[in-house]
Amino acid sequence: MANLLIRHAEIITMNGNGDILTGDIYIENDRIAAIGPDLNPPQVDKVIDARNRTIIPGFVQTHIHLCQTLFRGKGDDLELMDWLRTRIWPLEASHDEESIYYSAMLGIGELIQSGTTTIVDMETVHHTDFAFQAIAESGIRALSGKVMMDKGNEVPFELQEKTSESLQMSVDLLEKWNGHDGGRIQYAFSPRFVVSCTEELLREVQALSATYNVKVHTHASENRGEIEIVQAETGMRNIVYLDHLGLANDRLILAHCIWLDEEEKRIIHDRGVHVSHCPGSNMKLASGIAETPEMIKMDISVSLGADGAPCNNNLDMFNEMRLAALMQKPVHGPTAMDAGTVFRMATIGGAKAVGMEKEIGSLEVGKKADLAILDLNNFHVYPSFDVDPISRIVYSATRADVETTIINGKIVMENRIMRTVDKDI
Ligand code: GUN
Ligand code: FE
Repeated sequence: MANLLIRHAEIITMNGNGDILTGDIYIENDRIAAIGPDLNPPQVDKVIDARNRTIIPGFVQTHIHLCQTLFRGKGDDLELMDWLRTRIWPLEASHDEESIYYSAMLGIGELIQSGTTTIVDMETVHHTDFAFQAIAESGIRALSGKVMMDKGNEVPFELQEKTSESLQMSVDLLEKWNGHDGGRIQYAFSPRFVVSCTEELLREVQALSATYNVKVHTHASENRGEIEIVQAETGMRNIVYLDHLGLANDRLILAHCIWLDEEEKRIIHDRGVHVSHCPGSNMKLASGIAETPEMIKMDISVSLGADGAPCNNNLDMFNEMRLAALMQKPVHGPTAMDAGTVFRMATIGGAKAVGMEKEIGSLEVGKKADLAILDLNNFHVYPSFDVDPISRIVYSATRADVETTIINGKIVMENRIMRTVDKDI
């Protein structure tokens, strides 16, 4: 581990006061040891001159499918259930150990390059061990798990699992990977959605997640066809059913939540369930427009995710932030989702969803050093220098502006190698 000094930057801290400072960040091993002007720490292994650069907390994406990165562009103009049945499930069934490893590595590369430092990831039924291997090697912070699908009627034969085997495989992976690398990797049980899971499996997942104190990551109320299937099979609305099984609690991360009635919103709020909003995916799969402004007004925990690569052909959080804001404006007016709200969802909001708000999501002394250094001087941002920097990032910045990404104090991506020197500046 090395000690790193980043100098002369604009620092968007996202701390409780929303401070934006000019100064230095000193990183000792994996944590931020000091923030302030003209730091002069005793032992520095590497200095980054970040003059005219902006430092942000690394993005936390709360819904990703690394195993789908190789399927980008498959079924571009389909809606959810047809897309799953005719494209995604057959493709997931065709994965082998090598293809899932490279799919994960490709996705992680794209995520790190665009400033994402933590993901909540859902794999496929088989070979998840090899996705964990890619996560371990890459340095990204991740909560991940094998997908669970033990209910057969919708799912291709190759992906159908016995309930006991699905649970056993999940626990085996949990025991191997949960807590790996000082907790950088965590396990999250990943029952795909109610459509593909038996009641027995979901009840068991709830019990196991309590026993091991790990998250449960699933999809819910994304598409009206999906909701009709759930209603027909359970006699209940999606979130009511999850609550009935005891799953609605603060360990639950629910992707999408577009079609909720008042009772479901109330359950999500009262039980402290976390919603992962995926605007790009919701538009491309014609799923709908989630009521995120209302959820935020209700004080529901809402964070952001790009979903799988084929859901919007892009894993870039800049894209998701911009879409999250833009998609609400025609319906709810220009300030319904302002830049500050969206940026919070992308950083500290995601950290809260994964239960790590004391460790990541903002730049504060004692927290893990997960951050991105942006160069906001490029042509497509010029000349908006006098604009609020968060607004500039949400409405103008792109992944091309990410110069350096640091996770757990390690430089995992560096676009401008010439700017890093091994002596003081
Ligand atoms: N619902 C169940 N599986 C999936 C998936 O892979 N992607 C999305 N967007 N929704 C799902
Ligand atoms: Fe998804």
